[in-house]
Amino acid sequence: MTYEDLKQRLETVVDPGFGKPFKDVNGIKKLVVGPTGVVEVEIYLKDKTKHEQQLKIEIIRLVKVELGFPGIKIAFFDSEYLPEGEKPIKYLAIASGKGGVGKSTVAANLAAALIRQGKKVGIIDADVYGASIPHVLKMEIKPLTATEEEKMIPLTKDGIEVISTEFFMPPEKPLMWRGPMLGKMLVHFFGGVQWQDGIDLILIDLPPGTGDVALDVKTYVPKSKVLVVTTPHVNAAHVAVKAGLGAQQINHEVIGVIENMSYYLNAANNTREYLFGKGGGELVAKKLGVPLIGQIPIGQPQHGDYLFTAKEETGKIYDAIAQTVMTQMT
Ligand SMILES: Nc1ncnc2c1ncn2[C@@H]1O[C@H](COP(=O)(O)OP(=O)(O)OP(=O)(O)O)[C@@H](O)[C@H]1O
Ligand SMILES: [Mg+2]
Repeated sequence: MTYEDLKQRLETVVDPGFGKPFKDVNGIKKLVVGPTGVVEVEIYLKDKTKHEQQLKIEIIRLVKVELGFPGIKIAFFDSEYLPEGEKPIKYLAIASGKGGVGKSTVAANLAAALIRQGKKVGIIDADVYGASIPHVLKMEIKPLTATEEEKMIPLTKDGIEVISTEFFMPPEKPLMWRGPMLGKMLVHFFGGVQWQDGIDLILIDLPPGTGDVALDVKTYVPKSKVLVVTTPHVNAAHVAVKAGLGAQQINHEVIGVIENMSYYLNAANNTREYLFGKGGGELVAKKLGVPLIGQIPIGQPQHGDYLFTAKEETGKIYDAIAQTVMTQMT
C-alpha cells in the first residue's frame, strides 16, 4: 500500500453533501503518513455538522480495517469548494450591543430596499428571546415545509425570505426554547435552509449583546460581514463599539455603521431635532475604522404600513444604504 494508493482510495470516498467524490470537490487537502504509519488527514466537507460523524466512521474503517494502517488522525473543516456556476451565499450580520436601537427594523427595511434593487434577499432571525422579524414584517405564521432533502423552506413576505424561531415556538410553552435550544436551532438556520436559487444576500438579525450568538455565527459562517447599528446616544455608541470590536476580533469584517433614530425632522419648519443626542454613529465608525453608511431619522412608515417605501425620504435613505452595502459585500 503506497501513499498514492492511499490517496486514491480516500479520494473516491463520497462527500454526501455534494454527492461527489472528494477528488472532484477538493475535499482532501492534507494527507501525511507519519514514520510509524499513522495517517494524518484533513477533510473539507459540505454540511460538516450533519455528515462529520458518519464520514469519520467510514474513513477510519477504510484506512485501518481495509487498508491496514495502524492509526489515523482526522480533522474536519467546512468545504470551500463551489460547484461551477454556483455563487457563495453571502451573509451580513446586523449587530448593536445595546438592545432596542432598531436592528430588526433596519434589517427588514434594508432587505426591502435591496429587493427594490432587484436583489434576492433572506433574513435569519437569530434572536430567540425576541424574535421580531415576523412581527416587523407582519407575517402570517405558518408551519414550515421541507424539501425532500429535509431542508426547511423559509416563509416569504414582500419577496423577503425569512427563517425565525417564531415559526417553531409552541405558543403555550415558550420557556423550553430558551437557552440550550437556541444553539440547536441556529445549526439548522445556517445549514438546513433551502433559500431561493441565486440568493444574493442573507441578513442575520442578531440579538442584542456582544456575546454568544455572534460567536455561534462565527462557527456557522466563518466569513460573515457585519453591520453595526447604534443610536446617536453615547451610551448606545459605547456598547456598539464593543460589539464591533468583538466582531473584528473574530475576524468578521465590519463593513460600516448605521445610526438609527438620528434626528426628528420637524416638518413645520423643516429643521432637524436631535432628540437622542448627536454623534453616536460617527463615534462608532471612527473607533472601528469603518464608514458611517447612513443616518435614519425618527419616524414610522407613512405609505407602506410597516416598511418604508421608495416614496418616502427614509425609504430613499435605505435605498442609498442598500447600494453601499452591496458594494461592500464583494
Ligand atoms: N427610526 C426609528 N424611528 C422611530 N422608531 C423606531 C425607529 N427604529 C426603530 N424604532 C422602533 O424602536 C423599537 C425597537 O426597534 P427594533 O425592535 O428594531 O430594535 P432592536 O435593536 O431589534 O431591538 P432588540 O434589541 O430588542 O432586538 C421598535 O418599536 C421600533 O418600531
Ligand atoms: Mg431585534
